[in-house]
Amino acid sequence: MFSDRLEAKWIDMFVSVFELCKVKSGDTAAILSETQSREINVHLAELALYRLGAKVFHVQLTTPPQNTPVPVRSTGASNAVQGIQPVITALASSTIVVDCTIEGMLHAPELPHILKEGARLMMVSNEHPDVLERLVPDPLLTPKVKAGIKMLSRADFMTVQSDAGTDLKIDITDTSGTGVWGYCDRPGNVAHWPGGLVLCFPKAGTVNGTLVMDVGDVNLTFKRYLESPITFQIEEDYVTHIAGSGVDADLFREYISAWGDREAYAVSHVGWGMNQAARWDALTMYDKQDINGTELRAFAGNFLYSTGANEAAKRYTLGHFDLPLRHCTIGLDGIVVVENGRLQGDLS
Ligand SMILES: [Fe+2]
Repeated sequence: MFSDRLEAKWIDMFVSVFELCKVKSGDTAAILSETQSREINVHLAELALYRLGAKVFHVQLTTPPQNTPVPVRSTGASNAVQGIQPVITALASSTIVVDCTIEGMLHAPELPHILKEGARLMMVSNEHPDVLERLVPDPLLTPKVKAGIKMLSRADFMTVQSDAGTDLKIDITDTSGTGVWGYCDRPGNVAHWPGGLVLCFPKAGTVNGTLVMDVGDVNLTFKRYLESPITFQIEEDYVTHIAGSGVDADLFREYISAWGDREAYAVSHVGWGMNQAARWDALTMYDKQDINGTELRAFAGNFLYSTGANEAAKRYTLGHFDLPLRHCTIGLDGIVVVENGRLQGDLS
């Protein structure tokens, strides 16, 4: 579909994102990639950082061998760094790390060590620049995401309902909200581009009810819109029953069971999309190779339910589904923040 050719407009766009990250002349900037990374983004990052006068260097790892029963997708937990200490040291002593690994370093075990000296990490989601171009971070979104994070952190209960049959109750007492507005401008910050998300990792034993993925909801591990509904029973965080007779339910059952790991069935994170520029229908416009699907995690008003690793609940697994649902109503302590898939009040 695309020619992977450097375009001046894309260098400009990377420059504008790094300006939002407050990269300035003389800063040290590490571009982290692996041998299977999307080369055009690595190259665009380099050219843009040079234009800002940064001292740029590349850290490129060899994409490690596969050691899992199924392809790993959409975990946000790259294993590219492989714990290699000199790599961690080089990244940690930089002003900014531009993360061009395939999966991204958001949940990588090395991340805390990279950030602890004050490096910040900007993950460029593994999207074709054509996607990134439509979703250059907008500073006007930032206060809205921050407002959402506050609301989530203060609330004790999240409820999620839909006409399709979703009815979830999530105890979020003493649970901090987090979020991404699309750029990192302070020491220790982490962001990804595209951004626009508010979420939390619920504590153990706090999620109960029914989750119904309807036709048109999205399974981002498969980069696929559902064509037949799936109903999940969730008891104390774990999917205990998967009902549905279509191929979507079959694919879900097959992939999740392939991990042979009960933790793959538990909740990872819950939250909602905040980005009005991100589009639910974007998957129809691209080949799977061209996208990582972060746009669909961020489209405004989706309820994002995810299964897999959850540090807050001390659960670790590589199986991960990100499942954006449309047309849900999300309440925080009884106050509706998303109504039938539309952001409300300060969030809109
Ligand atoms: Fe996720």
